[in-house]
Formats: sequence, C-alpha cells, structure tokens
Amino acid sequence: PVPERGGPSTLTFPELRQQLSQHHAVAEGYEAQTVIRWGDPVLDGAPPYDPMAQTAAGQARQFGYNCDYLDFWPLPAGSRNSDHGLLCVNHEYTNTNLMFAGIGEGRAARGRTTAAQAAVEIEAHGMSVVEVKREGGTWRSVPGGAMNRRITMNTPMRISGPAAGHARLRTNADATGTRVLGTLNNCAGGNTPWGTVITAEENFNNYFGGAAATTGAEAATYRRYGIIAEPSYAWFRHFERFNLDREPNEPNRFGWVVEYDPYDPTSVPVKRTALGRFKHEGATHAIGSDGRVAFYMGDDERFEYLYKFVTARPFNPNDRAANRDLMDEGTLYVAKFEERGRMRWLALTHGEGPLNAANGFHSQADVVIEARRAADLLGATPMDRPEDVETNKVNGRVYVMLTNNSRRTAQQAGPGNPRANNVHGHVLEVIPPGAGTGRVDHAATEARWEVFIAAGKPGVDPGTQYHRATSDQGWLSCPDNIAFDSKGRAWIATDGAPEFAGIADGIWAADTSGHGRGLTRCFYQAPTGAEVCGPCFTPDDRTLFLAIQHPGEDTGSTYENPSTRWPDFEAGRPPRPSVIAIVKRDGGEIGS
Ligand code: FEO
Ligand code: CA
Ligand code: CA
Ligand code: CA
Repeated sequence: PVPERGGPSTLTFPELRQQLSQHHAVAEGYEAQTVIRWGDPVLDGAPPYDPMAQTAAGQARQFGYNCDYLDFWPLPAGSRNSDHGLLCVNHEYTNTNLMFAGIGEGRAARGRTTAAQAAVEIEAHGMSVVEVKREGGTWRSVPGGAMNRRITMNTPMRISGPAAGHARLRTNADATGTRVLGTLNNCAGGNTPWGTVITAEENFNNYFGGAAATTGAEAATYRRYGIIAEPSYAWFRHFERFNLDREPNEPNRFGWVVEYDPYDPTSVPVKRTALGRFKHEGATHAIGSDGRVAFYMGDDERFEYLYKFVTARPFNPNDRAANRDLMDEGTLYVAKFEERGRMRWLALTHGEGPLNAANGFHSQADVVIEARRAADLLGATPMDRPEDVETNKVNGRVYVMLTNNSRRTAQQAGPGNPRANNVHGHVLEVIPPGAGTGRVDHAATEARWEVFIAAGKPGVDPGTQYHRATSDQGWLSCPDNIAFDSKGRAWIATDGAPEFAGIADGIWAADTSGHGRGLTRCFYQAPTGAEVCGPCFTPDDRTLFLAIQHPGEDTGSTYENPSTRWPDFEAGRPPRPSVIAIVKRDGGEIGS
C-alpha cells in the first residue's frame, strides 16, 4: 500500500503508483502544463511546426529537439519574479527515426539522412532561450519574445583559456584556433554567480567520422573519446567539417563547457577550455568561503571521472564585468576516493607529477585537451558514470548522480563506487570542509564522501540503500539529474528505469536531512520512452519545470508508428520532446 503521506518525510504529496504508460502522470493535487514542444516557434518568422515539412531554415527559428538542461532567469533581470522569465534550454541530440517520415527505426535511421535532413538535425541541436509567462495560472511560451534566441551548431562562438589558439584547435575555416561554429550534444548544465548559463558538451564523438579516426595523428586521442570512423550520425558524409579526413582538429573544439549570457541575445558564447575536455554532463557552481568559485563536473561514461575547477581569483559580487573571464584562470582537479569516507582532489597542472613532455603534455593546452589521459596518469577514481552534479546550498554538500555501471566487477568495487554490477546507480554526497556551517571550503583539496541512496528495488536488488520507510513505489533506478528546492530537498530525475527496472522514468523527491533523509517518493512519471531532465524551480518554489526528453524512444518505434504520440496525441504527429511546468492546484509550493 502507498502511504497517503510520507511518514517522517516533509513531502506531503500522495505518491504515484508505478506504471508504464503512453501518458505522463503527476501526483494528485498537481497539474502538468506543456510549455513548449520541439518545432514550436521561438524567433519571429518561425514557421509553425509541420510534421511533414521541417526545414533547416525553419528549425533554426523553432524550438530544438531533445530538451535537457533547464534554467529559469526572471524578467526583469535581477528580480525574483516567478511568473515571467527566460527559460534557457539545452537540446542534446535528435531521434532521427521520430523526426522524419520513411527513415526506419532506431539509431540506424541517423545513417540514412539526406543532406537536407542532416541540416535540420544540425539546427535542432544547441540551445533555446525563450520567454515564458504564467497568466491565469497557466504557463505559456512567448514566440518572438525580445530576448528569445536560438543557439545551434552554426552559431559563432569564441574559444578561451589555455587551449585557445593552440595548433590542435586550428582548422581550415579557423586558422586562429579561437573561433568555432556551434555546440554539440549539450546535456546538463549550470550557471555562474555572475548571471551566465553554462552548458556541457557531452557525446560530441557521435558526430565526427572518417578513416583518420584510426590512422590520423590524433587517433589515440580520438580513441580515448570514442571517435570512430563510422559514427551513428551521417553528418560527416554531407559536411566537410565533420569529416576527420578533411578537418582532423574539429573534434578538439568540442567536449568543453560553454558559457553564455541569457539576457543578451547578441552576446557571443564562449568555450572555457580551462575546465577540461571530456564528455561533460553538467557543471554546478559553489562559492567557497574565500570567494573563489568551484565548478563540479561529471564525465559521463563508465569508469570516467569526477572533476572540479577552482577559479584563481575570487568572485566580485559588486562588479559583473570583473567576473567575465573568471573561468579562464584556475586549477582543474580530478577526484580520488579513499577508504573511511575520505577523498582528495588531484590537480591537473602541467609540469606537476607525470603531466610533462615525456608523457606528451607540452603545455596546459595538452592537459586540458586530453584531460581524461591526464587524469588516468594521476590515478583518479573511475566512477559509475557521473551524470549531473549539483550543489545543495542548504547543507553545503555536492550531490553526484552516478547513473549505473553494470560492468563494474567485485574486484573493482571500492570507495565512492561500492557496488559491483551497479545496474541501478547511486547518489553520492561530496562533503567539503565546513559543509553545514555556512563557511564551506569548496577550494579545499580534501573532502569527505557518503552514499545518499543506492538505487534499485529494496529486497530484490543487492546493496540498495534508502530510508527504511521508503514505500514499495518509492524506489528508483538510474538517477541522472537533480535539483534542490529552497528547503534543500532533493528532486531526482531518472534515465533508464524502463530498461533496467521495468518502471517509468520520473521524478522522486526526498529530504536530505532530518528524520526523512533518503526517503524517496515518486512524484512524476514520464511517458513511454522518455527520460526526465533539467528539473528547475522558480525562485518561489511554486513551479517545477521539467524537460521530457526522447518520448517514444523504444525498440521498434518509428515516425509512422511511434510507441507514444505524447504530448499532442494527434494522428500523423510523432511524439515531441517538450518542456512542461508542474504547479500545485492550490497555488502552493511544490512538495509543501
Ligand atoms: Fe546526456 Fe549523460 O546524459
Ligand atoms: Ca539525455
Ligand atoms: Ca543526462
Ligand atoms: Ca543519462
């Protein structure tokens, strides 16, 4: 039986019963509103979504595909307005098989795109900045809003930091190695204390191909990042910049953290190379007690690492311009987990330890371009796929979502990743010195760690860890994203639960302190095939935005016969990745 209330939990919503459905579901007393869908107009002149006639020019002005990270910036800027703002949205990748008629099923569909279809996909990547408004209790987007923006794979960007201008970043189109078009596979993200958005380039390897993958001068680095001759996307067959045989350095210009100003649609986004190059999932900031800013970041692949970057200079709250290039100077660290709940942050600094010319590192540029190999040499701890990392401002702890790793053997189980065959993943807490005191030392090179929850079904899956009052609906699988409300309670989004646990992906909420700590409760369930991304609260905690990514991504699902037509449920329309807003029917705070 599902308890009506959460026992010792402070969360009062009635829990959902776990089920799989073409429709989504939210706890009783709450309402889910569709705010914007793939193909909806963002910029003036955008054509309406037409399932049979998407064009690259149209897509460049419409909402992109597979929404992931979400960030809400109030309007006017600097206010805490929770009914009107800009929603910043990542568009991670495309489900080609659900975008175009007659292209077949699964990933193989990507390889069959024409140049015109690939051009649509290119414009469907990147980000959207879109004005949103709550009127009469209902959220809607404002097409053509004055600050609306599309950032795509064709948007000019600047490269800064230690790798800027390096020979390994130069191409035929950019002899300076400092200018690049676009951003790829932007998964989770974060923001800065000076009011910019940061977005993480994750699986950039999928887009580059050609024989040089195995024969070129960069072949060893390609291999470390998963770049192969025949990737799933066909872009490299249609456009030279994705062809390694023509542009061997183009992939070195991806895999970075990108910063942009949400309030200035004319600003040039910047790739901040000091934060290292890997399959960036997200980046969360935390202001340390000495004013320096730490950015915690995951590299999402089995046995990859957890990183943090600490700025050299402190954040200046009184002078926004003084912070503009704070992310260009500082120290990149990688995590090493140890016994008895201890951990250390190891500096990835050129000239220190093995990071020298004898090992192929001739400058800090080489260290950041090959951050993974540098971390290998330092003996960093291989993790169970570090997805989103988020700071809980209430308790000063940093939460790491380790989504799963079925390949970890019993011999490989150890500090930070204690479970072999970790099919369901876990959530780790990194506890910097001073956490809970209000003077947290995020720049420190030592910290402690604890497992917050270990996912899976209690009593069935070995090694699960929850509050003992967790209901038989309250367990979860494959934690991926997390957000905290202003009370410091965790809202966990999952990706992979249908495949690994036979339950829908969704949102589970839990206290992080007190008698209800670790008592997860099921709040929202996604439609068939979708994961839940980007959980994001308005400043007043009365709206929770969610990105519902890849609805209909199931085996056998096609444009003609998708496993769901969410959210439109109209004949002839495929499913559409969409941002939804969850509000409480009585207007109260979410989870109150
Ligand atoms: Fe794009 Fe690691 O999820
Ligand atoms: Ca995703
Ligand atoms: Ca993710
Ligand atoms: Ca994931």
